[in-house]
Amino acid sequence: MQIEVKQGRVELAEDEGVLLNCFEEVKRLNPVLKTINDKLSGAVSHLFETGDFTAKLGQTTVLYPQGRLKFKRIILLGLGKRDEMTIEKLRRAYGFAGRKTRELKLKSLSVQAFESNLAAIKLQESSQAMVEGILLSFYKLDRYKTVDENERVALQRLTFLKEKRKGIGEIKRGEEFGEIFSWATNFSRDLANRPGNYLTPERLAGEADKLARENNFKCKILSTTEIKKLKMNSFLAVASGSKEPAKLIVLEYLPPRRKINTLVLVGKGITFDAGGLSLKTTEGMVEMKGDMMGGAVVIATIAACAKIGLPLHLIGIIPATENLPSGSALKVGDIITSHSGKTIEVLNTDAEGRLILADGLSYARSFEPDAVVDVATLTGTIKLALGTLCAGLFGNHRGLKAQMLKASEKSGERVWEMPLWKEYDEFLKSDLADIKNVGGRFGGAILAAAFLQNFVGDLPWIHVDIAGVDFREKEDSYHTKGASGFGARLLLQFLRDWKRI
Ligand code: BES
Ligand code: ZN
Ligand code: ZN
Repeated sequence: MQIEVKQGRVELAEDEGVLLNCFEEVKRLNPVLKTINDKLSGAVSHLFETGDFTAKLGQTTVLYPQGRLKFKRIILLGLGKRDEMTIEKLRRAYGFAGRKTRELKLKSLSVQAFESNLAAIKLQESSQAMVEGILLSFYKLDRYKTVDENERVALQRLTFLKEKRKGIGEIKRGEEFGEIFSWATNFSRDLANRPGNYLTPERLAGEADKLARENNFKCKILSTTEIKKLKMNSFLAVASGSKEPAKLIVLEYLPPRRKINTLVLVGKGITFDAGGLSLKTTEGMVEMKGDMMGGAVVIATIAACAKIGLPLHLIGIIPATENLPSGSALKVGDIITSHSGKTIEVLNTDAEGRLILADGLSYARSFEPDAVVDVATLTGTIKLALGTLCAGLFGNHRGLKAQMLKASEKSGERVWEMPLWKEYDEFLKSDLADIKNVGGRFGGAILAAAFLQNFVGDLPWIHVDIAGVDFREKEDSYHTKGASGFGARLLLQFLRDWKRI
């Protein structure tokens, strides 16, 4: 789809449809609505008078100019109260607008851009949110359906029209960011929605490699032999049950000019989690094709940063493997020596995410970064603790956590801080090894994070557990059914606003 930002008046657009913003406070019609109202013999004011359209957030209604204007449809979009507007509310409203556009099968749409800042929301931020709302709502789960190509109607041209010249540059920048941010989420959704038979560790690595070539960053794919040389035995122990070879995906993006800091992003890349010998139930396995979403998010984020040209040096580490039971699988009670040298007693093979991340995080230290962030569908317990509205945020550095919370507010991808007191380590003490991979029934998500902390040393570190927010049962505004892609926009915002710690 082609997106343009131009100077012009929406009422003169020649697209199949135009989208107009309406706040609840429209007592008197704004100049654009007034012109349209006059052309349509009072249809707009009549609509408001009936009370059928109150402009509450996300409400849409369609008017038909019947030849009296150059476009066929007007979508009125409710934005709620002007002074209660937030970036997330705007993104939500535009998610509904995107759905309406799709429902009407529009091929071209002109959107009324804002003429100035909206209270505390800058022009650039509002246009980014508008683009995100629309593009995120367009993602569709039809990759594996035999759909008639003629049925796949999609919006081909989206134009933002602003009357005054001033501010067009800001809107353009916002639009570009919106496009890249949405791409990152939709790309992550797409990978996480791929079934285990379509997305093996090798194919995941292939996707990363393809993006690296297209966007000029480095991608190294390490084979089992190379992983063995690195002594990442904890990662390999998880991989030992599967016939599909494990891959260690290592990405590196170097900014074109200055770099502020070096950051490592680590993502869990389990392409299917059956639990290993600690086998899950069938119901428990249904979503487990998405157990690589953290990895997908890291790949998408680094590619997006390369597209933007962000002034940060980024490394991405994604240990990718399946977690399956077999004659060669990791056994309950096995003791493995991890990359860090620490020995781990494995008391549940389904707690495999922390085993591969332990090595990923410990390997991350060799790059001597300023900070490391990991993203993982790590524990079912985070869902029990926080529900499905937010991810769990853990870490050992206050300033880093504060930056992540800020990014969360801007991106609309909510995170909630969880405790990580050192007393939790008690629960992970093993009789036989340095540490065990599970620690009893209670506080599972925290214990998983406490386990990971043992492998980061004194490096400033953040862990985001996305297991509660990885899949959506229903579509709603810009959220689509299936894998959510949660984390890509969060990480991008975090990196874009990065402040030296
Ligand atoms: N991949 C799962 C966590 C998960 C659960 C992600 C539900 C998304 C939705 C992880 O590997 C796992 O199985 N964790 C176990 C840990 C337990 C054995 C200590 C869990 O949370 O039940
Ligand atoms: Zn598991
Ligand atoms: Zn898992």
